[in-house]
Amino acid sequence: SDDAVEKNKPPRIIAHRGASAKFPENTMLSFRKAINRGADWIEMDVQRTKDGRLVVFHDWSLRRTTNVEKVYPKLKSPSVGDLSYKKLRKLDAGKWKKKRFKGARIPPLKQVLRLGKKRDVKMLVELKNPGRYPGMMKKTLKLFNQLNLMKRGHKHDRVQLQSFKIRTMRHAAKHSPKVEIGLLYPDPPVTLKRLRWAQNINSYHREVERKYIRRAQKDYNIRVFVWTVNGNGGVKRAMRMNANGIITDRPKHTRKVVNRN
Ligand code: G3P
Ligand code: CA
Repeated sequence: SDDAVEKNKPPRIIAHRGASAKFPENTMLSFRKAINRGADWIEMDVQRTKDGRLVVFHDWSLRRTTNVEKVYPKLKSPSVGDLSYKKLRKLDAGKWKKKRFKGARIPPLKQVLRLGKKRDVKMLVELKNPGRYPGMMKKTLKLFNQLNLMKRGHKHDRVQLQSFKIRTMRHAAKHSPKVEIGLLYPDPPVTLKRLRWAQNINSYHREVERKYIRRAQKDYNIRVFVWTVNGNGGVKRAMRMNANGIITDRPKHTRKVVNRN
């Protein structure tokens, strides 16, 4: 099953914010394209609106990837949490990437999860700044439950929850024993022994070594994914290290490189 740490299996390809090299990150378009281009998983970032809705968006500021300055010129550098869902949906999240993507919106988490379920891909769901959004972790787990996405070890298991915040993840594992947990990095670094409750470690690709990956897999039955790998050399190195997954902005290209090697 997907849950076991497997030997000599090609790495899973996880589309980072969708097919985000070509398409506007964390939008429905980017996720659909990623799935059509052969991603095994899609990765997304979760934040919470002022009125408590879960949405998919990466940055703390809305400026880089939306037209917030044009729509709400009076607000100074607003975040997702400063706007209601209705106001957030007025923003264009596509045009910054290319004119032809105009009209793309910040999607509700539920819509992305439904797409992944329907298209039969697994989803890597990252809680962004959980400390700044009290209740977000529980709310996300509730949604996983509602959509029937968690049955750890079962083939219908559809999600892995991840965060840089170890404490939030430990709470999540306690709160919902069925949820698959991924630790980003982890930051601060901790010994593998203390992470037995995690199923994955998702590491910065330049800092992880083959020895560490082997130890996580063999001694602790923990899988390791690496991020964010876009070049051929990085993909080959990830394969040499026997990483279980490659988190990439270029799912189609990465698939090609994996198949060649
Ligand atoms: O999934 C790993 C990666 O997404 C973590 O960094 O900043 O892209 O969310 P970031
Ligand atoms: Ca992320």
